Amino acid sequence: MTTKTTRSAELYERACKVLPGGNSRTSVFRLPHPIYAQSAEGKTIIDVDGVKRTDFLNNYTSLVHGHRHPVVMEAVRKQLDNLTAIGMATESEILLSEILCERVTTFERMRYTNSGSEAVMMAIKAARAFTGRPKIAKCEGCYHGSYDFAEVSMATTPENWGNEPRSMAYSDGTPQGVLDNVVVIPFNKTEDAERILSAHGKELACIVIDPVPNQAGLVRARPDFLNMIRDFCKKNGVLLLFDEVITFRLGLGGAQGEFGFAPDLTAIAKTIGGGFPVGAVGGRADVMSVFDPSKGKPKAPHAGTFNANPVTMTAGAAAMKHLTKDRMDYINRLGERARKQIAEAFKAAGIPGQVTGMGSLFRFHFSTDEFTDYRSTFASAAQKKMVAALSEYLLDHGFLLAPTGMGNISTVVGEADVDRLSETVLAGLREISRKQAAAQ
Ligand SMILES: Cc1ncc(COP(=O)(O)O)c(C=O)c1O
Repeated sequence: MTTKTTRSAELYERACKVLPGGNSRTSVFRLPHPIYAQSAEGKTIIDVDGVKRTDFLNNYTSLVHGHRHPVVMEAVRKQLDNLTAIGMATESEILLSEILCERVTTFERMRYTNSGSEAVMMAIKAARAFTGRPKIAKCEGCYHGSYDFAEVSMATTPENWGNEPRSMAYSDGTPQGVLDNVVVIPFNKTEDAERILSAHGKELACIVIDPVPNQAGLVRARPDFLNMIRDFCKKNGVLLLFDEVITFRLGLGGAQGEFGFAPDLTAIAKTIGGGFPVGAVGGRADVMSVFDPSKGKPKAPHAGTFNANPVTMTAGAAAMKHLTKDRMDYINRLGERARKQIAEAFKAAGIPGQVTGMGSLFRFHFSTDEFTDYRSTFASAAQKKMVAALSEYLLDHGFLLAPTGMGNISTVVGEADVDRLSETVLAGLREISRKQAAAQ
C-alpha cells in the first residue's frame, strides 16, 4: 500500500497476541495486516491512520443507507434511552415484521436470529422439521454462511472438484454425516442439476438457492434453472429455500419479487438490521408453524438470547421504512451505472474483463468467459492476482470494495461518486497494464 498504515500495523501486532492471526472475521483480513477503521459517517470511512475512503462495501452489502444515517440514529437513540435487551417480548419485532410481511408476498410469518448464518440454519431446520426429511440440496460454490450443512462444497477448486459437483467439506473435521446429507448441484446447469436431484427427490427437505450468488460470480440464476427447481420441489414435496441475505437489497420484495418467484422459506439478514447484527426467516405460515410454541414443544424449537433484540428491530424498521421505492430505484440505477462504466473502463484499458451483478450490486472479473455456474466464474491464479492488484489500487486511491471485486451502492452515494470510482478503476487498470508491459 502507498497510503499510511502505521497505526493499523501497530494495532495488528497487539491483535495477534489475543486473536488467532489477529483476526475475528476472515472477510476483513488482508496481508500484511487488516486496515483498522476509526469512524464513519454517511459514505465516508476514516481509518486509524486518518485516511479517508468512500465506502462501496457497506459492511458487505448491509448498510443500505451508509453509516450512521440520521433517521436510523434517531430511532436507535430513542430505543437506547428506553431499553437495550430484555428477557421479554417487545413491540419492535412486530413493527419490523409488519413492514417485511407487507413488502414480500411469501412472508406470512417472520422469525429473527442474530446473523444470516443462523437464519439459513434455522430455515434448514424448519424445512427438516416440516418435511420430516434429513437431506438438503445446494449449489456448488455458493456461500450460505457457516452452518456445517450450508458450508458444504462452497469453495471447491479445479484440483479437487472432479467431473461434477459432489459433497465436499469446507471446514476440516466436518462429520461424514453432514456430507452424506447434502446433495450438491451445479448452479444454472439445468439438465445436470435435475439429473443429480432426481436421485434424491423423496429424501430432500429443501433446496437452498441464492438467486444471484456472490461467491459464484454474482451471476443471475437463469429462468429455466429456477423453473426446473420450482417444478422439482412441487413434484417431490421439497421446500424451496431462497437465501436472500445479500439479494434482499435488489427490490422492496427482494430478488424473489424481481424474479417473480415464490419460495416457501427465505433467509434474510444484512439490510434489515439497519446496521446492527440480524438475521431472519420469512415464509409460509404452515411451514413457519414448526417454530410455534403455543401448543407445547414446537417441531423446531428456537431460543436465542438476542433474537429480535429491540435495538436491531428498531434500527431495522427505521432503515426499511426509509428504503422507499424511489430510493430502491435510485440505488439500482446507480448500480447499473457502475456496472456499465466499469465494463467500459476494462475496454478502454484494453484488458479483458467483465462486470456482473444486478440492481445495486456489482463485481468485476478479469475474464471474458461466458459465466454460468461457479466453475465458469472460478478465477485463475493470474486473474486472482489482477483482482487483488485492482482492489489494492482502489484502497490506495480512496475506495473500499471487497477484495474479490464486489461493490454495492448505498442511498447516500451519488452519481459523482460512481463516476469517480469508475475513473479510478480505469486508472488502476492502466497501471496494471503498464506494470505487466514492464515485466515482459
Ligand atoms: C448469501 C449469504 N448467505 C448467508 C450469509 C451469512 O450471513 P452472516 O454473515 O450475517 O452470518 C452471507 C454473508 O455474507 C451471504 O452472503
